[in-house]
Amino acid sequence: MRVLGIESSCDETGIALYDTEKGLVAHALFSQVAMHAEYGGVVPELASRDHIRKTLPLIDQVLTQAQLQRTDIDAVAYTAGPGLVGALLVGTAIGRSLAWALDIPAIAINHMEGHLLSPLLEDNPPDFPFVSLLVSGGHTLLVEVQAVGQYKLLGESIDDAVGEAFDKTAKMLGLDYPGGPVLAKLAEQGIADKYEFPRPMTNRPGLDFSFSGLKTFAMNTWRDSSQTEQDKANIALAFQTAAIETLAIKCKRALKQTSLSTLVVAGGVSANKALRTRLSAMPTINVYYPRPEFCSDNGAMIAFAGAMRSAGLEQAEKPSFSARPRWPLDELSPP
Ligand code: KG4
Ligand code: ZN
Repeated sequence: MRVLGIESSCDETGIALYDTEKGLVAHALFSQVAMHAEYGGVVPELASRDHIRKTLPLIDQVLTQAQLQRTDIDAVAYTAGPGLVGALLVGTAIGRSLAWALDIPAIAINHMEGHLLSPLLEDNPPDFPFVSLLVSGGHTLLVEVQAVGQYKLLGESIDDAVGEAFDKTAKMLGLDYPGGPVLAKLAEQGIADKYEFPRPMTNRPGLDFSFSGLKTFAMNTWRDSSQTEQDKANIALAFQTAAIETLAIKCKRALKQTSLSTLVVAGGVSANKALRTRLSAMPTINVYYPRPEFCSDNGAMIAFAGAMRSAGLEQAEKPSFSARPRWPLDELSPP
């Protein structure tokens, strides 16, 4: 079965084709980063308009790459939430229309489930059950995963997501958008232990996170420093170390609480090299990640999640649809 995946929840148009027998056949991505950089963040209306421009050409590009026709597609999976409502509606409307026209099933995919399953696209994928750490620009989640669709939320951020804290701290330090990877790069020039940042919510029980205080701590430290380039790099490193250490402490706690020994990490921040080094050094556990290009938003994870949910699907029965800007993972059910 060949599943076309459409991702348009934020500032990346991602298209991919996943074959349940051959694996990932083709994928393409258009990032809107350059367009939003001018504004220092994502402008939702511009994002929606650009998804309209890019989705169909990228679908054609992926089909050409795969040497297939539209009629060779057996199902269309599209991101229905969570995300920016206008952006979601573009992928949703195109996905549903295409499925309707081809008389094939349309599958509404939860974006965070896409991230959660993305490490399974790799050779040597993890076995269920596992603990998943999802770290993106909009979410920081710890989830106990028994199987596809069997998700128990263990903890989440009560304020900023970790990626958001990276982005806001980077912006405050005057770094380019999108700040997360730029801050991570600058941290490589930092001198360790120049500043000691707190590890929020680690000295009390529970698996929730809070990252907004860390961002404020970085802001105050910068304000009180001599504001040299070296100070900037030292603060970037201290912030990153504190964020990573906090994530690692909670992961260890989640694994202990669930008696599991497999950790699966995904979402934009899972590309962070220092995070990978820290988590992979944890004794007696196995850690899995997506390849770097599938850490951030992409169509492959949506096509794959669609394939995982495609068994027993009926034809798309009605032409109505909706997008869900908010859609908690634990509302999903098994396929
Ligand atoms: O998963 P994603 O592409 O989009 C959402 O679903 O939100 O995640 C984007 C987030 C941004 O906050 C970005 O700054 C962060 O991931 N990010 C990083 C790195 N690469 C991307 N944060 C820290 N270090 C990185 N290397
Ligand atoms: Zn994402």
